[in-house]
Amino acid sequence: MVMKPEPWGEALDEVVAKGPARLILPTPTRSAVPPVRRRALAGEERLVFGCGRYEGIDARVAVEAAGRMPVEELSIGDYVLNGGESATLVMVEAITRLLPGVLGNTESAVQDSFASGGMEHLVEGPVYTKPAVWRGQEAPPVLLSGNHGAVDRWRRDQALRKTARNRPDLVAATPEERLDRRDREVLAEEAVRDDGQPVAD
Ligand SMILES: C[S@@+](CC[C@H](N)C(=O)[O-])C[C@H]1O[C@@H](n2cnc3c(N)ncnc32)[C@H](O)[C@@H]1O
Repeated sequence: MVMKPEPWGEALDEVVAKGPARLILPTPTRSAVPPVRRRALAGEERLVFGCGRYEGIDARVAVEAAGRMPVEELSIGDYVLNGGESATLVMVEAITRLLPGVLGNTESAVQDSFASGGMEHLVEGPVYTKPAVWRGQEAPPVLLSGNHGAVDRWRRDQALRKTARNRPDLVAATPEERLDRRDREVLAEEAVRDDGQPVAD
């Protein structure tokens, strides 16, 4: 079953009447939306998501809409959902948390996995909060040292180690110029097998 074009055309008439918008059509047929695209979308004034169901929306809807607004197909991953609504929720969360003021601590988004800046292409390392000791497990003492330089370096080391273990493909994609001498030492310690799996976890 395919969604008919007429109701979509009328719904988009209403959207256009309310002002400029970019139409996002969730689809499983694309590569997962990359971080750089999410950052660009966070700067858009108005995003409208057209959620398909069943086999999807009649293909003429996207063609007709493209004549009056930017239209973009986006996926959240290589799996098929029943409808675009849950994909839209995922995208809205991933995009809006990049907007100024959405997160209490603006540093959080910078340190996130796949964030922009120095951590690009890395996943975030392990995170800790109080208490310093919980059920016999100590949080890493460097985090309580008050030495911000040492904390930043430790965080980057941990991010590099976790990325090498969990996502060696991202290490391979990290541009050489983003790695300093210490980065290279850490990655050399985290040797991965030829099949991309960690030597020991
Ligand atoms: C059952 S799916 C249609 C799948 C389609 N027949 C195909 O094989 O490509 C119905 C709707 O769910 C949404 N959807 C499914 N998987 C998705 C994904 N991975 N990312 C984004 N949207 C998805 C799309 O809006 C799609 O039109």
